[in-house]
Amino acid sequence: MPVIVFVSPKGGAGKTTSCLALSEQIARRVPVTVIDADPNHPIKSWAEGGNSPANMTIISDVTDKTIGETIADAATKTPFVIVDLEGTAATIVAYAIAESDFVVVPTQGSQLDAEQASRAFGLIRAHERGIQKHKPDYKLPYAVLFTRTSAAIQSRDTRHIRKSFEAGGIPFFETELNERAAFKAMFSYRLPLEMLPTDEVSNVGKAIENAEAFARELIARITSEAHQEKISS
Ligand SMILES: Nc1ncnc2c1ncn2[C@@H]1O[C@H](COP(=O)(O)OP(=O)(O)OP(=O)(O)O)[C@@H](O)[C@H]1O
Ligand SMILES: [Mg+2]
Repeated sequence: MPVIVFVSPKGGAGKTTSCLALSEQIARRVPVTVIDADPNHPIKSWAEGGNSPANMTIISDVTDKTIGETIADAATKTPFVIVDLEGTAATIVAYAIAESDFVVVPTQGSQLDAEQASRAFGLIRAHERGIQKHKPDYKLPYAVLFTRTSAAIQSRDTRHIRKSFEAGGIPFFETELNERAAFKAMFSYRLPLEMLPTDEVSNVGKAIENAEAFARELIARITSEAHQEKISS
């Protein structure tokens, strides 16, 4: 516990990148299991570079039939379980959501991408409705993560989407995952951010700060949700 699942039916939304950036930060503190449920296995390939942290266990042999059990089992073994899913509306996504404590919905900051993100909210709501039959107050905590945004300026598009999410009561992270060469380089070098060669990859330190800020905000949200749950139960 907790189980954090990255969901966005849109391909290329930044799920795998933000999932790995978060997993690395968590692994600096406590053991984490990363379930790489994308059939292309991008995180498994990254780990095959041989430099994944000792604290990080990566499981990639999952199917829609086994994902539920795999997540539940991992949650008994490490304090954090983080799941990366493929960018489709496959059944495996619904099964993973059913096991989750928090859903991160990455989206790039354009109107079109944000509209696609709403398909992820539909999956979250469907899961909530199922549970609410027995537990009417149940809510699955989630938040949108804006990805690949400029570190220098907030675009008009992103500002507008933030406003409309606010108006619609859709939670989003204050921290955005900025467009940084280092986030791409993790995969091409198959190295954790902390091990990237700073003479070859620009602004590695800024990317690390960004990943840390995301991890901090996520943990704060999970902690406050757990606290609310305790108060209301
Ligand atoms: N913060 C970032 N900075 C720079 N490049 C990024 C960032 N986030 C994602 N990318 C790049 O965008 C592309 C898509 O990102 P990623 O693979 O993380 O998305 P995804 O949602 O996992 O895609 P899929 O649905 O195919 O699994 C990749 O080329 C990745 O390197
Ligand atoms: Mg991916």
